Amino acid sequence: MNTTPNPSVPDFWGRAYTSEGITVYYNKRRCIHFAACVRGLPEVFDPEQRPWIQPNQADADAVAEVVRRCPTGALHYVLQAGPPEQPEPTTIDVRANGPNFLRGDLTIAAPESADPAGTVRDTRAALCRCGQSGNKPFCDGTHREVGFQAPGGEKLNDA
Ligand code: SF4
Ligand code: FES
Repeated sequence: MNTTPNPSVPDFWGRAYTSEGITVYYNKRRCIHFAACVRGLPEVFDPEQRPWIQPNQADADAVAEVVRRCPTGALHYVLQAGPPEQPEPTTIDVRANGPNFLRGDLTIAAPESADPAGTVRDTRAALCRCGQSGNKPFCDGTHREVGFQAPGGEKLNDA
């Protein structure tokens, strides 16, 4: 794990986990334990191991591909020899009993931003729909604790 700050990435990307070909960044406050990472590469993303992210356990491009599956933007990456993540066409995925998953070239008004304009630029985000998150506008998983119910697509816990 490398805790040396990289001035070229925003602070909100969080803690850095570095291997030879890739650095993975993890922001705990944006993680809602959706587990797309754990299902995608269990040898790299394993909550039972320390550190829980070990990017050296797989090919750097494979790690990057799984990071891009994280719907909340809790995970980001910088490839040592490869392009940065490209934004996808903008989509909103309304989850039953849970948040809105956004993908695209996003500019989000957010207190965690170090930007003087108070905005976060991102490619993926989960925005709170229950109104109870402690990290608004982002979802922090509180919808489960409060039993939030609202129609939507695929249920979060079935995903
Ligand atoms: S929100 Fe992202 S980092 Fe957290 S468990 Fe899900 S896929 Fe992994
Ligand atoms: S929708 Fe997840 S905390 Fe509100």
